[in-house]
Amino acid sequence: MLKKIAKYDIIYGNGSGCMHLPDYKEARSRDKRTYKTLKFEMNSSFKNKYADKKFYLKTYGCQMNEHDSENIEALLCSLGFVKVDDYLDADLVLLNTCSIRENAHNKAFGMLGRLKHLKNEKKDLLIGLCGCMAQESSVVEQIRRDYKFVDFVFGTHNLYQLPNIIDKAIEENRQQIEVFSREGDLVEGLPVVRATPFKAYVNIIYGCDKFCTYCIVPYTRGRERSRRKEDILKEIDELIKGGYKEVTLLGQNVNAYGKDLYENYTLGNLLEEIALKNIPRIRFMTSHPWDFTDNMIEVIGKYPNIMPSVHLPVQSGSNRILKLMGRRYTKESYLELFKKIKETVPGVAISTDIIVGFPGEKEEDFLETLDLVEKCKYDNAYTFIFSKRQGTPACKLTDEVSLEEKEERLQRLNAVVNKYFLENNKKLENKIVPVLVEGISEKKEMYYGYSDTNKLINFVSNKELQAGDIVKVKINAAKTWSLDGELVG
Ligand code: 5AD
Ligand code: SF4
Repeated sequence: MLKKIAKYDIIYGNGSGCMHLPDYKEARSRDKRTYKTLKFEMNSSFKNKYADKKFYLKTYGCQMNEHDSENIEALLCSLGFVKVDDYLDADLVLLNTCSIRENAHNKAFGMLGRLKHLKNEKKDLLIGLCGCMAQESSVVEQIRRDYKFVDFVFGTHNLYQLPNIIDKAIEENRQQIEVFSREGDLVEGLPVVRATPFKAYVNIIYGCDKFCTYCIVPYTRGRERSRRKEDILKEIDELIKGGYKEVTLLGQNVNAYGKDLYENYTLGNLLEEIALKNIPRIRFMTSHPWDFTDNMIEVIGKYPNIMPSVHLPVQSGSNRILKLMGRRYTKESYLELFKKIKETVPGVAISTDIIVGFPGEKEEDFLETLDLVEKCKYDNAYTFIFSKRQGTPACKLTDEVSLEEKEERLQRLNAVVNKYFLENNKKLENKIVPVLVEGISEKKEMYYGYSDTNKLINFVSNKELQAGDIVKVKINAAKTWSLDGELVG
């Protein structure tokens, strides 16, 4: 078997047999070791072993987690489990968690509270937790201490061990905790059940080395590790063969792609190779402004199948706060990059993330953020109140801003960003935009889909359309978060 795919070693998803607990000190460390690429194969003794069981999978957080859940679902299906949409019908409930902000964390613990009651009535119910929260030592300690009814926990670095962990949890009937603090080798060939037959996520780089001072991701997702370009291109070829219309290249910071693997091959080169294939739509996210090169911008502007849509998180408009956040750019250099992208990529829509109430943020810092928003007039923005994450440097900073003040800043910020969403959308009135059809919105009896610039379009059509069709829509009315139109071709 090894000879057939000699480039890879095979990994079967077997556990090590002993308990592993997460540790931030280890998670933080970065060394220069190189990574092997391993090929996953399902241990044949597990295949369909649990054919009479049903699972419910709840996913919290970002696209990376959504994509992990597509692998988890496929692994569970290979074990024989069948998916259900109501957790009350399930034999196994698995929570794929997010730890980016406290509310995501609270939601998962709220769900565990409901599951505790359910388990009292349904003794055989199997409960598991995975994803970013599993990488947090405080969460795992709490689960071991207060949530003994949770049957198993595994982390982001050993998702491939799921078959073995579940099997052990069932066979041994005691809590299984298998979390690796450090990232392991890259694992290719995990099975996947994609959410739609026309749009697909493709991981290109895992982890993050930026260590923004507020952010937990470098601890929960480990060091930046790029997938080999051959593996990515092969996955994309298969998606094209399968009729997929859109791929979204995923990474915590896609702009760092290739740096750890190649002397001279970056996101710009990868995007170009993919653009030359016959796939109608390519997206990528998320981009850190620090790693954005002129070559990448030129490639994005050059190819019509690279969508003119860039997510460029700014976080703050105050140089003092950007420095405290460890963001490695200034307001001025961000604006310069922003301008370059706008000038080079025709019709580009730029979206962003902004945090208000970072420790020490004063009214004048916040006004700098508002000023930046006035200059950038973003097409979309995700705005957040700073949330303390245990183990991050910002968690230790004194935070004298009251919650009321932070909430008030968030409202003021949202009023400004919303104003520009509408203003930008209004510019599309009477224009014709390409839309990838996703389906029919039940409430409105209209089709819906996303434009090239990633705007939600609701539209009427005089002919029947299929999800996955790319059509032309004339925009009749702009709203803040969507646009209404009619099919023209
Ligand atoms: N508090 C608030 N927002 C955060 N983000 C990341 N960490 C935190 C935190 N501790 C936001 C950033 C990031 C987005 C994914 O989540 O804006 O870009
Ligand atoms: Fe977090 Fe910063 Fe990395 Fe983004 S770039 S994942 S905000 S540490």
